[in-house]
Amino acid sequence: MLKITKDNATSLRGKSKPLALPLEEKWKTLLLSMLDYLRLTQDEKFREAHPSVREGVGLAAPQVGKNVRMLVISYDNPVEEGKEPTKTEYALVNPKIVFASPNLAYLRGGEGCLSVDKPHEGYVYRHESIKVEAYDLLKDQNVTIQAQGFDAIVLQHEIDHLEGILFYDRIDKADPFKVLPGSTAV
Ligand code: CO
Repeated sequence: MLKITKDNATSLRGKSKPLALPLEEKWKTLLLSMLDYLRLTQDEKFREAHPSVREGVGLAAPQVGKNVRMLVISYDNPVEEGKEPTKTEYALVNPKIVFASPNLAYLRGGEGCLSVDKPHEGYVYRHESIKVEAYDLLKDQNVTIQAQGFDAIVLQHEIDHLEGILFYDRIDKADPFKVLPGSTAV
């Protein structure tokens, strides 16, 4: 099983390097094993069997000790009435934010991270909508992702890992639950 680095690890504070494409086999293998791990964290039975494992929706390479620009995201989308359930899932290499809205959004319940065991309360402000360009291993092609709300927040959290930034760095220590005018609660 993959070992997740905790927030005292140097890999979580370093800037990650871009990877050459086509992607080397060893990085493909690691990226897919990160996705397997992430899916497993969402399996209740697996978590019962491995009490140290917490549920996650995203994982970036520095969290498994590698300072390279790769990340995975996986979660079930809210089910819309009369429609089939869908999943948001990416295995991205060299993701780049090419547009970020000036308006901001935050998760009402705050953010969490598989590398951060201690809770850090407070709002993490992020761009409400973004456009990301990347290579997606799941599609084996370059993709442009338009994301907003929750989707945009998760992408920004994971891309922050590639810059050595953790979610609690973005919490206002003096006023953690300050509501910025015009921002959207998600
Ligand atoms: Co994280």
